[in-house]
Amino acid sequence: MKTITVNGGRPLFGSVFAQGSKNAALPIIFATLITRGVSEVRHLPDIGDVRCALDIIRELGARVTSYGSVAYIDTRSLSFCEPSAEKISKIRASTYLLGSMLSRFGRCRLSAFGGCAFSDRPIDMHIDACLAFGGRIVGNEIITDRLHPADISFKKASVGATINALILAAATDGVSTVRGHAREPHVHALIDFLRSAGAEIKISDELITVRGGELKGGNIAIIGDMIEAGSYLTAGLITGGRVSVIGADREDLSSYLALARELGCEVFERGSIISARATELCRRVSIVAEPYPAFATDLQPIIAPLLAVMSGGEICDRVWTGRYGYLKTLSSFGLSSRIEDGRAIIESSELQPACVVAEDLRGGMAALLCGLCAKGESRIENAEQILRGYENLVYKLRSLGADVSID
Ligand code: UD1
Repeated sequence: MKTITVNGGRPLFGSVFAQGSKNAALPIIFATLITRGVSEVRHLPDIGDVRCALDIIRELGARVTSYGSVAYIDTRSLSFCEPSAEKISKIRASTYLLGSMLSRFGRCRLSAFGGCAFSDRPIDMHIDACLAFGGRIVGNEIITDRLHPADISFKKASVGATINALILAAATDGVSTVRGHAREPHVHALIDFLRSAGAEIKISDELITVRGGELKGGNIAIIGDMIEAGSYLTAGLITGGRVSVIGADREDLSSYLALARELGCEVFERGSIISARATELCRRVSIVAEPYPAFATDLQPIIAPLLAVMSGGEICDRVWTGRYGYLKTLSSFGLSSRIEDGRAIIESSELQPACVVAEDLRGGMAALLCGLCAKGESRIENAEQILRGYENLVYKLRSLGADVSID
């Protein structure tokens, strides 16, 4: 088990480059399974979840050759097998095997898919999408003899179910439609990849139309990671410094940046550079996490410590209604909060160092942000959870002036 030790209380200054987006890279890696060719994926983040996803597709016969952040993924000759249950249970993105394995092999096991356990994470909409394209459930598998085009209408915006529907549609001969789809930047990134592999896709606010069929290898540069970018901007703000992030899309981060301004911070945007710094002004705010373009659920644990060191505030997560478990961990740092009517009320608090265990990816990062702010030595155990989503974490924090190490 890895432990991050941080000697907090130092203001962070400087610039970091945004890594490739975790949530864009993962669906693209699994989508390569429906192509018959060699895909080139650039700006691939070197993080735990991506390494696990690549291991899973290797088990199915994909040949992956990496040069720095560029990977060539050859999926011309795959053969069916059950990917390791241990790997599947590590990452949530293994749910994308439902669409990709059903398309490529005509079968996929309904496994215990993993990822952060911050809430019940149903897969009914993923299964409905598989059934709509001609899959049927037999025992603990979904199988099909032949997929046919489908017209899907989701009851709510789900990133994962939209991604599975797009993978199935792109792999199926004919025209399919998807309504009620998620609009996250990573959904657009997957569409760009599928287009590069030969699928014809039109997207509007109401409807995605896909003409699918035989796909060749695709070619894509992964977009900048908006959650990583928001995390470093917050690290600058919470320590009273000023951090710039290069290479994240300002539009993707617009709800985070609007919130930082509402809190009283100064935000600077120029070209591909975004930076932020705290001011004397400091307002209590209410945040509602909802599907894109609203404030991202993955950024609400990240922003909670900042609310605490400023004037406090309220968080209401409408994507994952129970996603406040991380606050118990943060209470060890002296962060005072309570849950009321499905909202987390964060009190203005003075943070002190603590030794805690990272329970999940973003909750673990929230703990590290508390450690960066609190004067003295903090330790975050089970740091593998954080490394699932953050590339070169310790190196990047040190480059900003943090006194941090990992062992
Ligand atoms: C993805 C992200 C995750 C992020 C989340 C929300 C990846 C690998 N993971 O997760 O980091 O926190 O988006 O932005 O990209 N739902 C159902 N039935 C389903 C599927 C979802 O009811 O079959 C509900 C969920 O309970 C939740 C909502 O839909 O309330 C949104 O979930 P979804 O967007 O599917 O999240 P994930 O794709 O799992």
